[in-house]
Formats: sequence, structure tokens, C-alpha cells
Amino acid sequence: MSNKKLLILFFHPRFEDSRVNAKLIEGVQQLNGVTFRDMYELYPDFNINIKAEQALLLEHDMIIWHHPFYWYNCPPLMKQWLDLVLEYGWAYGSNGKMLAGKWVMNVITSGGNFNVYQPEGKNKFTHRQFLNSFEQTANLCQMVYLPPFIVPGANRLLDKDIEEYMIQYAQIVHFLMNESIDVEKLSTVEHFNQINAAQWEHQFYKTP
Ligand SMILES: Cc1cc2nc3c(=O)[nH]c(=O)nc-3n(C[C@H](O)[C@H](O)[C@H](O)COP(=O)(O)O)c2cc1C
Repeated sequence: MSNKKLLILFFHPRFEDSRVNAKLIEGVQQLNGVTFRDMYELYPDFNINIKAEQALLLEHDMIIWHHPFYWYNCPPLMKQWLDLVLEYGWAYGSNGKMLAGKWVMNVITSGGNFNVYQPEGKNKFTHRQFLNSFEQTANLCQMVYLPPFIVPGANRLLDKDIEEYMIQYAQIVHFLMNESIDVEKLSTVEHFNQINAAQWEHQFYKTP
């Protein structure tokens, strides 16, 4: 049994119109060890309770920033959360070490497919490159940035594809709960989509 605790911070500005994320979250909301927070539901006025958010971060070992990819970035409430919650002297700065050692990752749904997120593609840069600011935010806070999980081509997915991504997302959460992950090795992967779930144990679990 794992005692790890995962905090999923979910940011979707138009959840009432969501097709993909609405399904994805069904697979992870109720899992053991997971605290799921629908942030636009909690903070429709953007008035984030900084102390409550910081307390939640301290109670968890891992954080997922889950959001649709909007203008190559996160939705505005997530930016507000970053700006307000990751305070100087708390999250970063010479005395700000409260998040040190915690794991964090992005889970994103993206209208564009992987082929347009390439140097030769329409968007010129990879998803991972666009996510650089989140990775460096994690680094500055001495957190461990895990490979993102990306749902590409989101607007053209069939229901059965979305169902498959929902299952994959739940598998990733389940995998992250394992106590013996070699996180240094895992961090070298570009994104979770590249990992074959059948090889997790073989590739990323430390041998006892
Ligand atoms: C305002 C806005 C900006 C968007 N920007 C991007 C973008 O930069 N890159 C991309 O791949 N998709 C972009 N999209 C597409 C969304 O990522 C996609 O519609 C969403 O992930 C689908 O998930 P949902 O069904 O849960 O809303 C954008 C969509 C909107 C509404």
C-alpha cells in the first residue's frame, strides 16, 4: 500500500463546453490518495485563498497541473494561482523551500497534434518546449518536474479515443503512487505518451 498523496489542480475556464477534460477527470477524481480540485469552480472570482492552497500543497507529495492548452500556455486562473501561491520566501528564495522535493507535472489537452508541435511543423516548437516555464518554475522551487502527459488532437478525438486517454491518465496516476519509482530516470523522458505502460515496472522501478 502506498501512502503517497497526489493533489490534482484542474483549471478549465469553460468546463460546461468541455468534451475531453470532462471525461479525463472521471478516471482520476475518485482514486485513493488523490485530492481533486476544480479550481474555476472553487474560485470563479479569481480570489484565491493563498494560505489554504499552500496548506494543501504541504499535505501532498505530488501535484498535477491539469488544464487545456490555451495559446501555448495555461488558462489565466492557473497563472493567478502560480503568481499568488508560490510566494517568495515560501516557495522560492533563500528561505523558501516549502515545496522542495515534491513532484509536479502538467497534464494538458491540446487541439494540435504532435506533428504540428515540431521544429518543421506549424507551431515550430514541441509541447515540452512550450512548457519550459512550468518546468523552470518547478526547478526554482526545488521540485522535481515529471514528464507531462499530453492529449493531442483533442478536438478531433472519437469517444473511444477519449476513453482510452482517460484510462491512460488513471494508469499514470496509479503508477506515480508506487513507492519505488526511479524519479531521476523518469525525469529524462520527454512526455508520458512515449512510455509503454507495460514497461513501467521494468524501466522505472528501483530494484529492491
Ligand atoms: C482560447 C483557446 C485557446 C487555445 N489555444 C490552443 C493552443 O495554443 N494550442 C493548442 O494545441 N490548442 C489550443 N486550443 C484548443 C484546446 O486546447 C482544446 O480545445 C481543448 O484542449 C479541448 O479540451 P476540452 O474538450 O476539455 O475543452 C485552444 C482553445 C481555446 C478555446
